[in-house]
Amino acid sequence: MNTTSTKVATVEVKHVSKSYETPSSTIEVLNDISFSLSAGNSLAILGPSGTGKSTLLHLLGTLDRPDSGSIQIDGVDPFDLDELALSKFRNAKIGFIFQDHHLLPHLNVIENVLVPSLAQGKPSRERMDRAEALLESVGLENRLTHLPKALSGGERERVAIARALVMDPTLILADEPTGNLDRKTADQVTELLTSLPQDHGAILVAVTHSQALADALQDRKELVDGTLQPVP
Ligand SMILES: Nc1ncnc2c1ncn2[C@@H]1O[C@H](COP(=O)(O)OP(=O)(O)O)[C@@H](O)[C@H]1O
Ligand SMILES: [Mg+2]
Repeated sequence: MNTTSTKVATVEVKHVSKSYETPSSTIEVLNDISFSLSAGNSLAILGPSGTGKSTLLHLLGTLDRPDSGSIQIDGVDPFDLDELALSKFRNAKIGFIFQDHHLLPHLNVIENVLVPSLAQGKPSRERMDRAEALLESVGLENRLTHLPKALSGGERERVAIARALVMDPTLILADEPTGNLDRKTADQVTELLTSLPQDHGAILVAVTHSQALADALQDRKELVDGTLQPVP
């Protein structure tokens, strides 16, 4: 499925810093991070546990605000928006793929994929067709009415990928998307993720410990002492 025709996807991160206050100390997690990405780009973020990878994804996902610096997605600073506008913006522009995929257990596969569209009311026929086409593209056309508990781990991950794409987002954020998968399934999900930026005119940022996924993406950076360093 190709949806690139009218989309201009951009992400601009400028001088972003973030720290957490705890009762005993301040933890400086991100220190003056800047980068920009556009449609078709994919970036792997590497680094040991606790270096701030998820924190960076949360900021990009507009789930948390930077202490200083700015983030623009498609030319808009989401933190200038009020709460309702921000949640609409997030819903329209950002697709999330988490390691533990957060599928709703009482909804079947196609209903789970349509969840992000429910903020706009009952899904349109077009949206339902898109959900079905996405599920077909991830090889789940024969699982539309399965409940999550009747799926394998790799199938659940693929449902999460289809769900992340249903609103045709600018930015796809994945936090260790292959972390819980066996090797063969991880390879399949890696291949699928790698194709997303081109096929959907989107931007993919994936936090990963998988060398195979990192190598398959266009660019790799490592978080070191709060800064993003190029990976040779
Ligand atoms: N809400 C929070 N409050 C205080 N400290 C936090 C919070 N979230 C994360 N941290 C700390 O910030 C650091 C980076 O966390 P995180 O972004 O989750 O790292 P990673 O995803 O790279 O493992 C860790 O030291 C973690 O303990
Ligand atoms: Mg993390």
